[in-house]
Amino acid sequence: MRTQVAIIGGGPSGLLLGQLLHRAGIDNVVLERRSRDYVLSRIRAGVLETGLVELMHEAGVGERMEREGFVHDGTIIASGDDQVRIDFKALTGKHVLVYGQTEVTRDLYAARDAAGLETLHDCRGVKPHDLDTAAPFVTFLKDGKVHRLDCDFVAGCDGYHGPCRQEIPQEVRREYEKTYPFGWLGVLSETPPVADELIYANSPRGFALCSMRNAQLSRYYIQCDLSDQPDDWTDGMFWDELRRRIPAEAAERLATGPSIEKSIAPLRSFVCEPMRWGRLFLCGDAAHIVPPTGAKGLNTAASDVRYLHEALKRFYHDRDDEGLERYSETALARIWKTERFSWWFSSLMHRYPDQSEFDLRIQQAELAFLRDSPAAQRAMAENYVGLPY
Ligand code: FAD
Ligand code: DHB
Repeated sequence: MRTQVAIIGGGPSGLLLGQLLHRAGIDNVVLERRSRDYVLSRIRAGVLETGLVELMHEAGVGERMEREGFVHDGTIIASGDDQVRIDFKALTGKHVLVYGQTEVTRDLYAARDAAGLETLHDCRGVKPHDLDTAAPFVTFLKDGKVHRLDCDFVAGCDGYHGPCRQEIPQEVRREYEKTYPFGWLGVLSETPPVADELIYANSPRGFALCSMRNAQLSRYYIQCDLSDQPDDWTDGMFWDELRRRIPAEAAERLATGPSIEKSIAPLRSFVCEPMRWGRLFLCGDAAHIVPPTGAKGLNTAASDVRYLHEALKRFYHDRDDEGLERYSETALARIWKTERFSWWFSSLMHRYPDQSEFDLRIQQAELAFLRDSPAAQRAMAENYVGLPY
């Protein structure tokens, strides 16, 4: 088998890259370790920056998103019963779109199928070779046979646990990491959302987030201990705890019901440098992770995809490799700013086990500053709607 770009990983990064390359006349094959049903059953992010929305349109998959997504012009930051609305539209002229990652992925798979592009699922032992030559290839096991895919480039879109990052030699690779001493317990329920906009809540009992997928589907999160298991939390316990952490007027309105999904995610900040080695280019979670507080995971994956597909277009259409040469530097410049925002917003909103009285006062002062200062609100809004590419 031969293709121009071998894409390892059929999550949102790999699928979006594949679709954009296809529209630019660049041939690609996606190799995914899991089944399609498994990939589509993962409930993850829900907030799309304008940049990602534009990329979806450029990829020709914006129609359902435009119809079913919800424009959000602002968000609520709560501290106890104190609430401040960050008005994205007034502060930046921009908004975000609430549309689930699962739907993004579903739309991209549908477009791939319609275009007759090759997507191989259940690929085991995927391994890139000869990445430091002009003729790399990927081997993998599928249906009991070893296959070889020859290509010009390998895109490592294989998430945090994927193998691609490890191909960058240790003496070249630098990894920066911060773990957080808590997780997020997330619940999806077929109930109307508690508010029209998202509520990020700082409370003495820990962080809570009220989000949504549509008028009848809500997504809620609460900060939990890292040692907790989803089954430790009955639905009743979850709703009681959520009510205690959000402003009283929201708690009174909260509609509860059975959870249809419940999971715990750890929080991590992580960056791998460089994001390119030879003919290997990393995109998305394969290269970096942010804690979910600013809703940036999927959006940073999209910014990498945008830089990489532009660079590949320049290479194939204009025989100009400058974009590829500069890919790592360009992508990392935006990533680090987003890492900073996600770390800052996480630090502002959570309770830390080792937080001193001084730390707590600083957190309260920072929240009060955000409430009172239009400049602080603008900085928050600018980051939340997405920094320019
Ligand atoms: P992934 O979505 O991880 O996709 C990588 C793909 O590569 C997967 O399909 C995987 O099966 C495949 N793969 C892995 N190894 C191999 C291999 N060896 N061979 C072939 N294929 C392989 N972000 C938010 O903004 N908000 C959230 O609420 C949020 N919640 C999250 C919850 C969890 C549990 C996780 C893990 C992430 C969450 N994120 C969230 C982050 C966001 O979902 C990710 O940033 C986004 O999925 C990144 O897309 P990706 O395509 O780069 O990686
Ligand atoms: C969602 C997740 C986030 O991490 C976030 O900051 C906002 C919304 C969500 O899943 O809806």
